[in-house]
Amino acid sequence: MLTSFVRSGQKVILRIEDILNKVFSSEQNLLYYHGAMPNFCMWMLFLSGLLLFAYYTPTLEAAYQSVEYITNKLPYGDVIRGIHRYAADAMLLTVILHALRVYFTDRYREYRLIAWYSGVALSVFMLIIGVSGYILVWDERSFIIVTKITDFLGSLPFIGSSLASAFLNGEVISNYTMSMSFFLHTGTSFALLVLLWVHYMRISRPVVNVTWAIGSLISGIILLFAGLFPAISGPEAKFTVEPSYFDIDWFYLWLFPLIDAVGNIGAWLVLIAGITLVTLLPNFVRNHDKEPASVSKDHCVGCRLCSIDCPYEAIYMAPRNDGSKYKEIAVVIDDRCAECGLCVGACNFDAIELPNYKSPQVMDDIRIALQS
Ligand code: HEM
Ligand code: SF4
Ligand code: SF4
Repeated sequence: MLTSFVRSGQKVILRIEDILNKVFSSEQNLLYYHGAMPNFCMWMLFLSGLLLFAYYTPTLEAAYQSVEYITNKLPYGDVIRGIHRYAADAMLLTVILHALRVYFTDRYREYRLIAWYSGVALSVFMLIIGVSGYILVWDERSFIIVTKITDFLGSLPFIGSSLASAFLNGEVISNYTMSMSFFLHTGTSFALLVLLWVHYMRISRPVVNVTWAIGSLISGIILLFAGLFPAISGPEAKFTVEPSYFDIDWFYLWLFPLIDAVGNIGAWLVLIAGITLVTLLPNFVRNHDKEPASVSKDHCVGCRLCSIDCPYEAIYMAPRNDGSKYKEIAVVIDDRCAECGLCVGACNFDAIELPNYKSPQVMDDIRIALQS
């Protein structure tokens, strides 16, 4: 059943790709930049965040006023704030598109597992960055978020109370809470960058940059939203007034209606079950019988060409001590091999082969293809 679901999803995605190819050409096909689009949004976030950072003060007394100053007094401050808000939403939307694309086109398991697992962790990081970002404004919504998050963390058995006081950075809401939220927001953003490096690590030649046209389109849409629906704050949070304003951002604040609906423990269960399910998705499909490239000791002369050409860094050169006149031999790291066959083409000595796909068979396939 899962297989037919994946097949149907794949058909839909490929059909959309086909249409986009006809309308925009393959160079400007958005779906071919599924990973580059969130990356582009992320750099917009960093850039706009840097500008906001210059005028923001993370204290209970000054945070709200500094955001108001940026929005109402700083030239183009409202635009920069709007870009920061909608680039975050665009990043999440494009991440969802990206995850669906890699899932339905079956590009998420075996040697791509690291990209999948790190992708799940990136999504959790994004949630932390989004929620802490909304606290920084210090309006009534921020107050409600801090109260609910503290309860939510505190509801965990055994470690709950320590987690809650670590989040508050004390026992009650204070300036330390603001510093903690600021640290969570910026620190997790930099951690996300490091994790992205891990995300790309095992991908051969990842497409990380969008074209000028796609970049302009995304920036244009974000600017349009920033102009049409300016990012504004609610009333300032005050300890003497019961907070009531909670304008929901469904991209990053969905946890709070969930907590209201199913309670703290229920929300933990949904969150943990959701993350576990997505993480384990690659385990629900059977991997094909793997036959990585194998090196013939008798033929390898240690010329290194295969290890230079392998796009998955699956071949390293090891010193030889078997009496051969050659100093090194190519060694394949089985788990990394994607069975792409490039090393077979690189080797001039017929010393490396894909056992499932020997050279005569490849030649036969090429002959058949040419004849047809
Ligand atoms: C911060 C958010 C993310 C960014 C900026 C990002 C970026 C990228 C980029 C640029 C690529 C290379 C794409 C290509 O070469 O065509 C990629 C590949 C990949 N990503 Fe992400 N990604 C993010 C989140 C995720 C998430 C949430 C998942 C899934 C849970 C995921 C799973 C994958 C997988 C499996 C690949 C390998 C696909 C392939 O080899 O074709 N990523 N990512
Ligand atoms: S087939 Fe060869 S080139 Fe391709 S991943 Fe495996 S070792 Fe690397
Ligand atoms: S290209 Fe062939 S001969 Fe050269 S190191 Fe690789 S397997 Fe050995």
